[in-house]
Amino acid sequence: MRTLSNEDVANLITVPECINIIEKLFDNLDVTHMPPKVYMDVPNGDFRSMPAVVNQTAGIKWAGIQFDNNGKCQIFAKVLINDIPTGKLLAILDGEELTAIRTAAVTGVATRYLAKRGSKIATFVGCGTQTPKQIEGVLHVRNIDELRLFDLDHNRSTALAKQFEDIVQVKVFDDLAASLKDSDIVTTLTPSRRGFLHNDMLMPGCLVNAIGADAAGKQELNISVLSHAGMIVYDEWEQCSHSGEIQYLSEADRRATLFSLGEIVSHARWDYTNDDRLMTVIFDATGLAIEDVATARYIVEKLMLS
Ligand SMILES: NC(=O)c1ccc[n+]([C@@H]2O[C@H](COP(=O)([O-])OP(=O)(O)OC[C@H]3O[C@@H](n4cnc5c(N)ncnc54)[C@H](O)[C@@H]3O)[C@@H](O)[C@H]2O)c1
Repeated sequence: MRTLSNEDVANLITVPECINIIEKLFDNLDVTHMPPKVYMDVPNGDFRSMPAVVNQTAGIKWAGIQFDNNGKCQIFAKVLINDIPTGKLLAILDGEELTAIRTAAVTGVATRYLAKRGSKIATFVGCGTQTPKQIEGVLHVRNIDELRLFDLDHNRSTALAKQFEDIVQVKVFDDLAASLKDSDIVTTLTPSRRGFLHNDMLMPGCLVNAIGADAAGKQELNISVLSHAGMIVYDEWEQCSHSGEIQYLSEADRRATLFSLGEIVSHARWDYTNDDRLMTVIFDATGLAIEDVATARYIVEKLMLS
């Protein structure tokens, strides 16, 4: 049985490698099995248990999300995986780095299939723990000329800008609407409980990756964004309708066609990346246990081969 630290995980897998794993995973969901996450609310956040089976691997992530007095969230997580044929516990992995990498990889896959091919401007709203890897994911699948950063805490966006200024042109914004103007890809990564992003701030045809809302009561998109969207793609229906942005979408407000990410990835003949499109597309991600288990198995196999 192996024990892997966050540092081990970071040394064994990159975001581009994980994008390949996540793409294959969503193309082959029939080899997976996963009940919805179980949430237990506690005063400053929640704890979640996330079991899943992927192929010959059974596993579980045990994660806690706690908010400090400044509203910053701390994620605590461990991932355990077993080999199904032998039943053996293969590894216990620290889950924080793994979560950041697999979440960024999911954004990368969604962006590969749903952002306009010629996307040039990418805005990230919320510049906390998850965002550096998220930027790596988007930069890997589109040739971005301009990276824009917005955070309520200006120190966080300026610190993050320094990490990427040698790779791409980076602009830090103090105004949300200005940061979104003409943006082809918008990725939201905040723990907000209020829909602060409005439809009239968005360029028609853009992709919005809504990643921050991953529990009941969390919300980043104003209902105007969901009700004007042409297409909404969710990672998993039960989880998103309980914990994602679509928990707020009533039938009366819905104009969009709804698809799962699995349907999008496995139906390669559908192409939504046309640069002329005017339809705004939303990707609603709550984070899935199958992503953790598939990523953990890959990491452990790579370690065994090294
Ligand atoms: N969908 C998934 O799979 C998944 C995975 C991991 C984390 N998350 C969620 O993503 C969110 C971000 O996680 P993190 O670890 O980066 O958190 P973090 O606390 O490290 O960073 C959040 C950042 O958002 C900023 N912020 C808060 N409200 C804002 C607003 N209205 N506008 C602009 N900036 C704002 C904060 O100043 C902070 O810098 C959390 O809600 C977390 O639960 C989702």
